[in-house]
Amino acid sequence: MIQVSSMDSANHLKKSNGIKIIKITTKFKCSKCDLEYSKEIEIWDKYVEFFKEHEPMPIQCEECAEKERLQDIIECGDKLIKTLPKKYQKLKDYYNFQERVDKMKYKSIFLHGETGSGKTFFAIMVLKELWLEGKTGMFLSYPEFMNFCLNNFERARSKLNEVKDYAGCLIIDDLGAERMTDYSKNFIYIIINYRESNSLQTIITSNYSIKQLDYMIDKRISSRIAGMCDIFELNGDKRIPF
Ligand SMILES: Nc1ncnc2c1ncn2[C@@H]1O[C@H](COP(=O)(O)OP(=O)(O)OP(=O)(O)O)[C@@H](O)[C@H]1O
Ligand SMILES: [Mg+2]
Ligand SMILES: [Zn+2]
Repeated sequence: MIQVSSMDSANHLKKSNGIKIIKITTKFKCSKCDLEYSKEIEIWDKYVEFFKEHEPMPIQCEECAEKERLQDIIECGDKLIKTLPKKYQKLKDYYNFQERVDKMKYKSIFLHGETGSGKTFFAIMVLKELWLEGKTGMFLSYPEFMNFCLNNFERARSKLNEVKDYAGCLIIDDLGAERMTDYSKNFIYIIINYRESNSLQTIITSNYSIKQLDYMIDKRISSRIAGMCDIFELNGDKRIPF
């Protein structure tokens, strides 16, 4: 049942500390589907006897492990997708955004352009790509966030910290669409300043260009956005059918 394979090379493995690692081929039994299979493993030589004396160990076969991994991704992905606004939960890219998404998905981006040009769509495509890679990312509608803060003063501070500290890719959607008060300007300054100084990936969408944000919000904010982000503009209202 147990075969010691490639002893020669095994003897050369990790001899420091007097520990000898050897490769053996031994039988396992899948804990899910009961399949018996052989596998080469590396063990400390003193455990060889143990493997000789014991029944095959119940360890998932590769096929069952892969099935479980895919199931985890699907379940986890479903939960994440439900955090998105409904109309962006299922995306079918008709405007060849994919190529640009692939190029930019690890960067901070400032996406501006007219209404309906696909800014939110693009940002969410990036987010989904990152999720598929097992990375973290969060979608935040900025007007909704500000609205929440204005209606929940006692929780606004902790919500603000949660957003600014968020370690994954943060999407700030529709910056500038909220009512610009000193209170909301201060919030955006705190978020942008922190994320810029800590190089935290941030994707901002806005109907306004950096220049327009200069006077709409504050030059200190727009200049930080420009410093941290690759800027690009989308054109053409995609709500109007071809
Ligand atoms: N690449 C694309 N493929 C298919 N549909 C798209 C694409 N880009 C945008 N759309 C569709 O066009 C519509 C407008 O896109 P989106 O909401 O992203 O625009 P926006 O620039 O964020 O607009 P706003 O400034 O009003 O927020 C949406 O219904 C979206 O599904
Ligand atoms: Mg949008
Ligand atoms: Zn199995």
